[in-house]
Amino acid sequence: MRGSLFCLFVLALAGFAQYHGKTLIAHRGASAYAPENTLPAYRLAMEQGADYVEQDLQITKDGILVCLHDLTLERTTDVQRVFPDRYRTEERGGKAARHWYVSDFTLAEIKRLDAGSWMDAKFAGTRIPTWQEAIDEIRGKAGLYPETKAPEVYGSRGFDMEKLVLDQLRKNGLDKPGAEPKTPVIIQSFSEASLRKMGEMGCRLPRLFLFGERDKQKWLSRQAIERVKEFAVGIGPEKTIVRANPEIVQWAHDAGLSVTVYTLNSADPGGFPDVAQEAAFYLYKLGVDALFTNNPDRFPRRPM
Ligand code: G3P
Ligand code: CA
Repeated sequence: MRGSLFCLFVLALAGFAQYHGKTLIAHRGASAYAPENTLPAYRLAMEQGADYVEQDLQITKDGILVCLHDLTLERTTDVQRVFPDRYRTEERGGKAARHWYVSDFTLAEIKRLDAGSWMDAKFAGTRIPTWQEAIDEIRGKAGLYPETKAPEVYGSRGFDMEKLVLDQLRKNGLDKPGAEPKTPVIIQSFSEASLRKMGEMGCRLPRLFLFGERDKQKWLSRQAIERVKEFAVGIGPEKTIVRANPEIVQWAHDAGLSVTVYTLNSADPGGFPDVAQEAAFYLYKLGVDALFTNNPDRFPRRPM
């Protein structure tokens, strides 16, 4: 009797060891329910149990890091109404398009924009947060997961995004692994050069290398994945890459790299009945370690 109880205990422990430790990253906050990359979305993500809250970073004309996914303001704010003449015209595919770039506006100007109404009238008046405001909101309650967005574009405009990010972390006492156990920090980027540069600048924080369908060919071999170890501690492939090439998980794990897929979203659960079942597939069938999701409340902490 005692023996079988002990066996049950060991099995339960093994089950816990196998399934605990999957990491939930709220993609742009709880962005299925509140405007992406705003304080309401970040707060909701933490209420829904996110381990980390993601911030996409852009830079204002006066050199302030703000949280926004796009380089331009028109998709998620009323910039066209507030600043109708402040656009750049760009030609693409023979068509001219107007764009209102973050880096053409000061922080004071950006703070005049409504970043909530595009999603729902109930979010009217929501502002684009500075990264500092996001840090103040999140620290002590969840981890930070900043992404250096288009660092090369900002470099061409005279900004050093990596320096801004690392300086701000230093100012907050968050620049070293374990500095604040309740506020772990992981830096992510699609730019290998950006991640390498931060390493060369002395950054010891964990870094995640993102890649998508567009540039996957370069990374679909065991040798290529092993090379990521030079500049990151994990890979962050688009989920469809992992679904089509599940062996990539083992390659990464063999190389000592974690695997974090993006992006799980209830609006498009990839052919699964719902986003929770899709997430369970990646976490427990394919064995990924973490995922970015717009729906933190649907993250399965156990196999379904
Ligand atoms: O950073 C992970 C995921 O967010 C990458 O895609 O375009 O939403 O930043 P994106
Ligand atoms: Ca992102």
